[in-house]
Amino acid sequence: MKNILITGGAGYIGSHTAVQLVEAGFNPIIIDDLSNSDEKVLDRLEEILGKRLTFYKGDCSDRNLLDQIADKHDISGVIHFAAFKAVGESTVQPLKYYQNNLGSLLTILDFMRAKQIKDLVFSSSCTVYGQPEILPVTEETPRQDAESPYGNTKKICEDILMDFVKSQAGIRVISLRYFNPVGAHPSAKIGELPIGTPANLVPFVTQTAAGIREKLTVFGDDYDTMDGSCVRDFIHVMDLADAHVKALAYLGEQKDDFYDVFNVGTGNGNTVLEVIRTFEKVNRVKVNFKIGARRPGDIVKIWADTAKINSVLNWQPSYSLEDSLRDSWNWQKTL
Ligand code: UD1
Repeated sequence: MKNILITGGAGYIGSHTAVQLVEAGFNPIIIDDLSNSDEKVLDRLEEILGKRLTFYKGDCSDRNLLDQIADKHDISGVIHFAAFKAVGESTVQPLKYYQNNLGSLLTILDFMRAKQIKDLVFSSSCTVYGQPEILPVTEETPRQDAESPYGNTKKICEDILMDFVKSQAGIRVISLRYFNPVGAHPSAKIGELPIGTPANLVPFVTQTAAGIREKLTVFGDDYDTMDGSCVRDFIHVMDLADAHVKALAYLGEQKDDFYDVFNVGTGNGNTVLEVIRTFEKVNRVKVNFKIGARRPGDIVKIWADTAKINSVLNWQPSYSLEDSLRDSWNWQKTL
């Protein structure tokens, strides 16, 4: 059984990926400093999987800790989720974002080279496309200047990966450009755990429906879209997790010094107002909302062309928007 180190494995996407990895026959080893996650996730994973996963509490920029882990386990690949991701905060504390998001990747790459660990799946984002002129976006769509330091870290990390692969370090890398992850494990034992006021749409919707937030604000309804609100591609976190498993399997078949990128979305765009209405309909609950001002820096509309991941990784999403919003609500109810 191949050991896969997952940084940020107690987090939202990392924990769901841990489940899918086990189901695909891999042995995930989690490293997480719990700065944006909770140790109880390990108990929940045990309930889902019927076994306890190996967990190291610590920072993945801690080279000594990484070396200790590699001394104990024969690691064949890494999935690097751990990063800061709050767009707003990154504009106020850019150095924190550059230090953490770039620093951890550099440490991991040097660690992989030293320990001859070949395979890496990196969490990138559709943020690298900015506001594209032509939709949907393919992997060939040019990247644009980032709107935020957070977005810039994703772009720079992709560049670092490309340069490292070009240097013939012997590694194989896939960057997955996530669209908007939503939903939760269908058991409702794990899901997204925002600390404080959620910045993202769906956690804000579920918390408003639960009465934790008084009212959701829709940031703008006067955009040039179907109903005036922004358009995103909402992908169920289980499908997103599955893309990591497929990416790892595919890396295993490649020659050394391999790099590629894949969009991970459903291929469908939905507006913010559609999300609210669909949420209300599938869950039969009201979401108190008002229309507010546009949020600075927001992309108006983006959704993925998924032809590449469909054909090359043989990956297809299997959850609908309705499934995602039902699972998000079931998870919120357990909280
Ligand atoms: C944002 C980032 C993206 C990042 C992701 C990580 C921007 C432009 N993009 O994605 O780079 O990878 O977070 O978390 O910041 N909305 C509301 N009311 C709310 C919350 C959101 O109307 O209370 C709207 C937003 O205006 C947007 C949509 O919902 O149109 C989705 O917002 P969000 O969930 O924050 O995701 P992104 O902005 O797509």
